[in-house]
Amino acid sequence: MNKDYNIGVFDSGLGGITVLKEISRLLPNENIIYFGDTKNVPYGEKTKEEIQALCERIVRFLFTNGCKLIVIACNTASIAAYEYLHKISPIPIVGIINSAVDSIPYNTYKEIGIIGTPFTVNSGEYPRKIKEKDENLKIYSVGCEKLCPMIEKGWENFSDRRVILADYITRIPKSAEALLLACTHYPLILNDIKDIFEGDILDPGEECAREVFRTLKANNLFNPKNEKGKIEFYVSGDKEIFQKKAQEFLGYEITRLFKVNI
Ligand code: DGL
Repeated sequence: MNKDYNIGVFDSGLGGITVLKEISRLLPNENIIYFGDTKNVPYGEKTKEEIQALCERIVRFLFTNGCKLIVIACNTASIAAYEYLHKISPIPIVGIINSAVDSIPYNTYKEIGIIGTPFTVNSGEYPRKIKEKDENLKIYSVGCEKLCPMIEKGWENFSDRRVILADYITRIPKSAEALLLACTHYPLILNDIKDIFEGDILDPGEECAREVFRTLKANNLFNPKNEKGKIEFYVSGDKEIFQKKAQEFLGYEITRLFKVNI
């Protein structure tokens, strides 16, 4: 495997850029290919089989475009397809769900809230994995079906966005000391979340980047080149909306953005 190959990062849409930001911060000389499946977003309302089929195509695309490692930067896809992709992928795969579970500082909180897509919450995966680490931690999970589609369309365009967000977050009892963002889209609206939730906010992006670091190290795959890595973006849907939102969040101009039919 060529060490200057890319790290492939994918999500149903925009959300995975919150993970990409952490990866490129920790591993600045790695080349990265980002794929946002903006034609098929949201994944959170699809079945496991539908999500697996979409993810399989993305993994093939990333692999054939010179990736040495793949990051599922989408909680929903990670829950639906990690095991499946792990079996078929010729290269290592990192799924955000494991990083998210590891990002919780155990023995710190008695009660936490989790917000994610309906698929993520209905799967029960988070409480199951978290209970393996701390069976006494009380967990309140809320599926937020409207948030990912609103963020994709442009959060600021919705005048009722704070009411909708508050309606979800206030379903979590006030006794919850921390809130886990179990959807990679949510760090894009972090300021609004912080205005409503008073406790700690747990964003798994940084831990996911550390997991990528560890996986590259374990597989002896660090890019030896001592120069800033290139980042390329691919989307399956509209380029303009993605570009505007991604530039705002990442803080730099995106020049290498391509629309592809995979
Ligand atoms: N960013 C995805 C996640 O972390 C959103 C899924 C969706 O498309 O509904 O779950």
